[in-house]
Amino acid sequence: MEYASKLSNVSILGAAGKMGSGILLLMAQELFDLSRQPEHSRLEFRINAIDVSEEGLNAVMRYVEKQIRKAGERKPENIRKHFPESDGNDEEVISRYTSEVLALINPVTELKAAYDSTIVFEAASENKDLKIRLLSDINRNSDHAPWFFTNTSSIPIQYIDEKAGLDGRILGFHFYNPPVIQKLVELITTENTLKGLIETAGILAEKLRKVVVRSNDVAGFIGNGHFMRDALYAFSEIERLENKMEFVEAMYAINAVSQKFLIRPMGILQLCDYVGLDVVQFIMKVMDPYMDKEDLHSPLLAMLVSLGVKGGQNPDGSQKNGFFKYEEGRIIGIYNVRIGIYVDIHPVKLKVNEYLGALPESCKPWKEIIKDPDKNNILRTIFSDLRQINTPGSDLALKYGFNSKKIGLKLVNDKVANNEEDVNKVLLTGFYHAYGPVNSFFD
Ligand SMILES: NC(=O)c1ccc[n+]([C@@H]2O[C@H](COP(=O)([O-])OP(=O)(O)OC[C@H]3O[C@@H](n4cnc5c(N)ncnc54)[C@H](O)[C@@H]3O)[C@@H](O)[C@H]2O)c1
Repeated sequence: MEYASKLSNVSILGAAGKMGSGILLLMAQELFDLSRQPEHSRLEFRINAIDVSEEGLNAVMRYVEKQIRKAGERKPENIRKHFPESDGNDEEVISRYTSEVLALINPVTELKAAYDSTIVFEAASENKDLKIRLLSDINRNSDHAPWFFTNTSSIPIQYIDEKAGLDGRILGFHFYNPPVIQKLVELITTENTLKGLIETAGILAEKLRKVVVRSNDVAGFIGNGHFMRDALYAFSEIERLENKMEFVEAMYAINAVSQKFLIRPMGILQLCDYVGLDVVQFIMKVMDPYMDKEDLHSPLLAMLVSLGVKGGQNPDGSQKNGFFKYEEGRIIGIYNVRIGIYVDIHPVKLKVNEYLGALPESCKPWKEIIKDPDKNNILRTIFSDLRQINTPGSDLALKYGFNSKKIGLKLVNDKVANNEEDVNKVLLTGFYHAYGPVNSFFD
């Protein structure tokens, strides 16, 4: 009951954004489930979908409607059980479900809608002053001592807590993108975080069927702690390779090594494009002041962002151009930073693939390996073969894999992660890697 009453009035800040819209969909379904349980019949459930963009809110309501309907169509039996009294056909039950879930949502541009909420999910843009302003405003004007679940990717939770005066009523509930699909949630608490809030977050994660990894409150947490350093290593390798080849070739080489040779779902530059080069740059900027002996800055990234080369997604979900140029999800060009245009990927690909050399014969694509029950043995063979072939490609890959392992160990050493398994779990679950960075393949 405590869980349900806490969740009876929820607000989502930044509801029209990439993360906020997914969180809204998940929470609308969860609140609907709770509202249909007889023991909660005296509670009134509501979600305020709050965003500065009215247009964005209209679009997000259309998105939620479409997704709710789809979920109903996929498994009508799951929807039917909410309406045991109904003798309507599937279509009627799904329409009723869709309209009842939507009726729980109040799309609104004014922050004051959150003043009545007991739980606030914060998924507004990654800007610490903005987040602090929004949370302290709600906190000051609310009589409910609300609990805050922030989705920040990089800002320490303790910092937000102190600056917004939340007295431990905040934790990091870091969904991965897209929140509806991705299983991982990094849960970040501080010494002050209220016990009841941590318990509720645990119940919620379980109800949403998420895999929770606890991360300590260090800027970037585990996921971005690894990703940002991995990307910086890649950028430095590109610069190093420039002595041997054209810059675009070096870019292509490092992307290919990090994908095909290391058997990852996508190369590091493509991953940066997916996340958004401006977002990557921003996360590094937020993390940098907290990292004593490291410089989390990339001149390459800064230059691209200043030229408007940013990656990220279009509103229809298609990939925008970044390091690479995309057509229907396929890479067709690569950005030549020296002349400021995209050039055809094919000649670059041919030349660089020849330079890197062949993959070991035992090598299989990521898609096949990830599903194989004998995955670990297969990987062991591939990486042992990689050691033998002694090509520029294998050399770069072994160094890259070793550096990724070093980053993983550093996260444990710096007490960002509680142990090596947690680092591996984040990379396996949140980044879909076939193996964790802390492994015995790269010594
Ligand atoms: N995109 C990712 O891969 C990802 C993954 C995990 C966490 N995050 C984090 O989630 C948060 C949101 O990221 P995103 O990628 O969804 O960004 P986004 O730019 O897609 O969405 C941010 C939303 O916040 C809204 N907003 C801005 N100012 C606001 C205000 N004053 N009040 C209410 N809404 C406001 C914007 O209109 C926008 O709709 C960030 O903290 C980010 O670091 C992002």
